[in-house]
Amino acid sequence: MTAQRTIPFGRPWIGDEERRAVEEVLRGDVLAHGPQGKAFEAEFAAVLGEGAHVVSVSSGMAALHLSYYQMGLGPGDEVLVPALTHTATVHAVEIMGARPVFVDCEPRSGNVDVSKMESLITPRTKAIGIVHFLGVPCPMEEIVSLAERHGLHVVEDCALALGTRLKGKHAGLFGDSGCFSFYPVKHITTGEGGMFVTRHKSVAGKVSKARAFGVDRSFSERTIPGMYDVLSLGLNYRMSDINAALGRVQLTRLPEILRRRRANFAFLKDALKGSGNISVLDGGATGEESSCYCLSVVLEGPLGAHRAKAVFKLNEAGIGTSVYYPQPVPRMTYYREKYGYRPEDYRQAARISDQSIALPVGPHLTADDLDYIVTHFKRVIKEVLP
Ligand SMILES: Cc1ncc(COP(=O)(O)O)c(C=O)c1O
Repeated sequence: MTAQRTIPFGRPWIGDEERRAVEEVLRGDVLAHGPQGKAFEAEFAAVLGEGAHVVSVSSGMAALHLSYYQMGLGPGDEVLVPALTHTATVHAVEIMGARPVFVDCEPRSGNVDVSKMESLITPRTKAIGIVHFLGVPCPMEEIVSLAERHGLHVVEDCALALGTRLKGKHAGLFGDSGCFSFYPVKHITTGEGGMFVTRHKSVAGKVSKARAFGVDRSFSERTIPGMYDVLSLGLNYRMSDINAALGRVQLTRLPEILRRRRANFAFLKDALKGSGNISVLDGGATGEESSCYCLSVVLEGPLGAHRAKAVFKLNEAGIGTSVYYPQPVPRMTYYREKYGYRPEDYRQAARISDQSIALPVGPHLTADDLDYIVTHFKRVIKEVLP
């Protein structure tokens, strides 16, 4: 068929304000370590709310890596991680030489199944890593209480969770650290970029040094320019002032971005209800506020085997789709070859990876786009069944 529309899965919302902000940085002499980075951090902390200490970094992966780096994770340690997530959630553990121990997800939201966690804790377990899947908050009270009972750290992957709250508290402020991503299809973008978040001022101070080679004083703290010492190991995970200036403008758009994402999500979920043999991943516990990253529809029963055909037909109609995530991480070649893979341990993660289609809900969608998606989705799921 010929597409009557082109609807991308995600499209950064960049306007003249962003272009002006970036240009202004480029007209000046300070491209890094400058006022934009500091201002972006302060404004981001204000969005998260009371008690947030934040450190801007070069990506979400950098924030995750720094989370485990600052806690001194190493060989012999284990970390519980979700089987259904982006590989970055797991790489951050593996790159420290520790062992990821995968936990299956629960079927309704795709968030980690907390009931499966305790039996996987061993004397070697040091931390629990979770992801607020597609922006639906994990049951953090249960996770934090489990971690406290066993003396474990908690790292929250908030790459899809800007705007996610549970009982009013923002994601990233429940555990030891929260890790945000500003990759282009995320809620806000800085091109590439991320934010490390913690409730502990001392941890933020440590991470701030670790993201900049471990040098003992920042640019502005140096009495003699160029002079510094190194007290610990570090990396270069800084965000430039160009990226930060972009992020500051993007942050002003966040309330409208969230309003539109939530409205688009609710519209599509309602319109697809009763379409038969599908379920929509979502939360539902009281006090949850999802950031509504996308609408992931799981093709159930006989439809389940026809995902590829359905995706092809949707794309052919001009509707951009994605898959969150393409495989349970323990089934990815690197992890499967290293640790083995028992399909019976990850049934729900595999169901979602193999049978779901992620539909767009971003602020770029118009009312006509939404109607178009509904019409064609309903058509396609009828057509793919033999
Ligand atoms: C859940 C999750 N965690 C971490 C990342 C990595 O973030 P970044 O691309 O900013 O490194 C992503 C994807 O981008 C993600 O989806």
